Amino acid sequence: MQEINHSVRGSEAVMDDVAQIMKIRARGERPMAYVHSYGCQQNVADGEKIKGFLEEMGFGFTEDPEEADFILFNTCAVREHAEDRVFGNVGALKNTKRRHPSVIIALCGCMMEQEHVAERIRRSYPYVSLVFGTHVIHRFPELLLETLTSGKRVFSRGDESEDRVIHEGLPIHRDGSVKAWVTVMYGCNNFCSYCIVPYVRGRERSRTPEAVEEEFAALVRAGYKDITLLGQNVNSYGKTLEHPVSFAELLRRLDRIPGDYRIRFMTSHPKDATHELIDTIAQGTHISHHLHLPFQSGNDRILREMNRHYDRAKYLDLIRYAKEKIPDLSLTSDVIVGFPGETYEEFLDTVSLVREVEFTSLFTFIYSPRRGTRAAEMDDPVPAQEKSRWFQELCAAQEEIAAKRCQAAVGTVQRVLVEEEGKQEGMLSGRTDGNVVVDFPGPRELAGSFADVKITAARNWILTGELVSRQQ
Ligand code: SAH
Ligand code: SF4
Ligand code: F3S
Repeated sequence: MQEINHSVRGSEAVMDDVAQIMKIRARGERPMAYVHSYGCQQNVADGEKIKGFLEEMGFGFTEDPEEADFILFNTCAVREHAEDRVFGNVGALKNTKRRHPSVIIALCGCMMEQEHVAERIRRSYPYVSLVFGTHVIHRFPELLLETLTSGKRVFSRGDESEDRVIHEGLPIHRDGSVKAWVTVMYGCNNFCSYCIVPYVRGRERSRTPEAVEEEFAALVRAGYKDITLLGQNVNSYGKTLEHPVSFAELLRRLDRIPGDYRIRFMTSHPKDATHELIDTIAQGTHISHHLHLPFQSGNDRILREMNRHYDRAKYLDLIRYAKEKIPDLSLTSDVIVGFPGETYEEFLDTVSLVREVEFTSLFTFIYSPRRGTRAAEMDDPVPAQEKSRWFQELCAAQEEIAAKRCQAAVGTVQRVLVEEEGKQEGMLSGRTDGNVVVDFPGPRELAGSFADVKITAARNWILTGELVSRQQ
């Protein structure tokens, strides 16, 4: 059974001490922090919590690491490329530290939960003073104070017991004023054979529906219009609670909160996606008609090897049911090309599934071995160049489909949420309910509100249109 810890806010005394020390160390009037989150929205949401702590400890924020007194990279371990980028950027901080010896450089997030990564930082990046993993975010003020006062480098990863705990009440510094994230569950129990996430994020645990409702309602009151519920597998939300609640039930409870807003959620796992979930989307008032349902592969043997617990037929059944109940549903997905042992014929099953479903957009990845996962031990005979060709073939198929879908939207009127920042003078940019970008001319004051836009043209997956009417 999971536990909920309501008492963490980083003790006031610790936060005061950090604030005092940093005031003196700061190069300017107040200490400045540069925080960059890599990876998925869950990581971005964690980054906003760390920023919440920093704000409470008197920090301002800067987009320029050269101006910062504290630099933090919140890292992602999902693919090798993500890790390489982090190592490259941390390497570049060596000169920053040389120019400003008082700057404190810290690393956190998924990569730091891996012992071999922490070891590499310990050995090869001596100017990194603080390293902490995803399990100990609630202890960040304490860890920062220790870094400032002990004269030693601090490494913290949390232990197994943290796997079942949820820490409520952490401060949050939200980056936007229109879109917001609400984490509904942490961790993952699925152990897909290629994936590092369960190792670096621990076991599945859910926030109570009351805690989610409270945060969600406060966001609606504060004027947020596009709120995304986050979890690695939202469909298994609520299973570990003392009084279990399904994700569909949570959605219905949130949907009852009055106001003008949209609910999104990610990610859904096909093995746990139910008709109840689809019916809830279909009947909802605020739930966007957008479903991100990663299928990973269209071939049954590969799906088994991936430990996904569904097959092609089950996935396609679910899609058929969803399209029938929600005719304007926008579907997006994640796919892996070149899983160990995949043959070209098996890969073609993925292409045919993509053609059959006609996704609005697709996130395509070439398989990347992750140390400690089951797939990393499997034979992987197909050369990288060959996988790259398959990848291009899949992308070309999807481009064709996306262009066709965009073209089909021309002439329709879409409800668009206008983004905070416009691209060019006189132009606004927004997203449809299905999460497709629309550019159109209009006044700046529409930023952050909904508008009806008639789609007049489509190019490169971006729609252009004209304003029909604004909604407040
Ligand atoms: N929990 C989500 C996704 C988490 S990671 C889900 O189950 O759908 C986001 C995506 O990264 C995955 O959907 C998968 O397509 C991709 N991914 C994960 N591990 C990978 C690996 N080792 N190599 C390539 N892509 C990977
Ligand atoms: Fe990774 Fe699978 Fe969990 Fe998603 S469901 S985070 S792909 S193990
Ligand atoms: Fe990356 Fe961690 Fe998310 S590995 S994809 S940041 S859960």
